[in-house]
Amino acid sequence: MIETIASDPSFAGALSKDFSYGFASASYQIEGGYQDDGRGPSIWDEHLKDQENGNEAVDSYHLFREDIKLLKLYGANSYRFSISWSRVKPLGGKDDPVNEPGLAYYDQLIDALLAEGITPWVTLYHWDLPLELEKRYGGWQTDDKSQIIDDFVSYAGLLFERYGDRVKNWITLNEPHIFTMLSSFGLKQPWNRETDTWKTGHHQLLAHAYAVELYRQKYQSSQGGKIGITLNCDWCEPIDDSPEAKACAQRMLDAVLGWVGRSSIHGHLNQTLKEELGDLLPDFTDEEWKVVKGSSDFLGWNHYGTSYATGKKFPFKDADPRQFIFGCVERTFEKDGQQIGIKGHNGHPYIVPWGFRKFMRYLNERYAKPCNVPIVITENGFPVENEGDLPTLDDILEDTNRQVYFNSYLKEMIEAIRDDGVNLTGYFGWSLLDNLEWIFGYKPRFGVTHVDRENGFKRTPKQSAFVIKSIFDHAIAN
Ligand code: NOJ
Repeated sequence: MIETIASDPSFAGALSKDFSYGFASASYQIEGGYQDDGRGPSIWDEHLKDQENGNEAVDSYHLFREDIKLLKLYGANSYRFSISWSRVKPLGGKDDPVNEPGLAYYDQLIDALLAEGITPWVTLYHWDLPLELEKRYGGWQTDDKSQIIDDFVSYAGLLFERYGDRVKNWITLNEPHIFTMLSSFGLKQPWNRETDTWKTGHHQLLAHAYAVELYRQKYQSSQGGKIGITLNCDWCEPIDDSPEAKACAQRMLDAVLGWVGRSSIHGHLNQTLKEELGDLLPDFTDEEWKVVKGSSDFLGWNHYGTSYATGKKFPFKDADPRQFIFGCVERTFEKDGQQIGIKGHNGHPYIVPWGFRKFMRYLNERYAKPCNVPIVITENGFPVENEGDLPTLDDILEDTNRQVYFNSYLKEMIEAIRDDGVNLTGYFGWSLLDNLEWIFGYKPRFGVTHVDRENGFKRTPKQSAFVIKSIFDHAIAN
């Protein structure tokens, strides 16, 4: 194991004793058991059926008790997981039947976590829409927004009702921005680039907001929980001092962070998007704005890496959907012949801790402070492409780059809280287990636990898990 800040006395007790620390996962990426106990198909079952998919995933549907043992071994006090909508409501719609065995699965998971003193953080929707809703009306792309909103809110109500006595931390949606982009090129639905992107995002925001409204009106005071959304953003640094590079970097933040962030937190549309897209960007009615604005008790953010913005930008209107992920700006991973960070999955640069620090400060100033809500890092992690092909298991478990990643990012995080006054109250590493990286299959591995899919899904901790454990053991006050 590398030397870490766990041996630096200045970090001892630097985090409050209430700090939430744990790992994150998502139903389709880990559960498997795709036809077990009445689960209905999700859009991913259909769209990935001819390639690596989550039919078996890493079998957490059957092995969740082992996952909890791992969480315990890693010292986690919290676990973020998502519920598979089509497992608890196979057809998904508000008038469709619920699936009791599916609901009972999450009862067991929640109860087993609580019995070990681990707090559940539940994501309602981590991209696995019931397939039936896509067939019925196009899912999030529907022309009649009330369909998807009503179905989502009814599903949310089912979960609040069933689990709210034990679950006190809810995340409505995971990364609506990325889900929209993935939908545009990963799934096989016809996609109108000009309109569907913005419509899909708009509908997700409304569904989130109305689910939050339901929770606040009907459940929050009696159950005493919190509800928020998880967005994503990497950091983007201007490559030089030129006005073009600065404008590009800002545009990336505006588009990625600002699209859903500005609306759901500040209650207005992002100006950059509005100026460029005009009427293509759907606006909310006055009634809707009342529900959308301030619709998060905490801000969940997923952060991975950093890149440089050059001076080039692409029009939102006719950009390749992939460019939306980065705010439609040209990015580079090199400056003065030097590669930034270390390349991970997809060639993206990952170990750039100073970018994480800048990102946290930016978030705090622009989003958390004005609205007086804390930030929770709901995902942060390092992928190794082809890690599973290393010669021996020991080579895989000695995941030095991932150890360096977590040590350097956690150092910045603790300093941001302690020295910069960033209001950040929780951190989840991505991911507890190696798992299905969506359309990229099982090659990119993000897990702090190796999973051998050929041998009974055997789980073996990697060294990085113990790096994280030792840092939090040291930093969280007693
Ligand atoms: C974000 C997503 O929430 C998660 O599903 C994905 O696996 C990780 N990032 C890594 O790309």
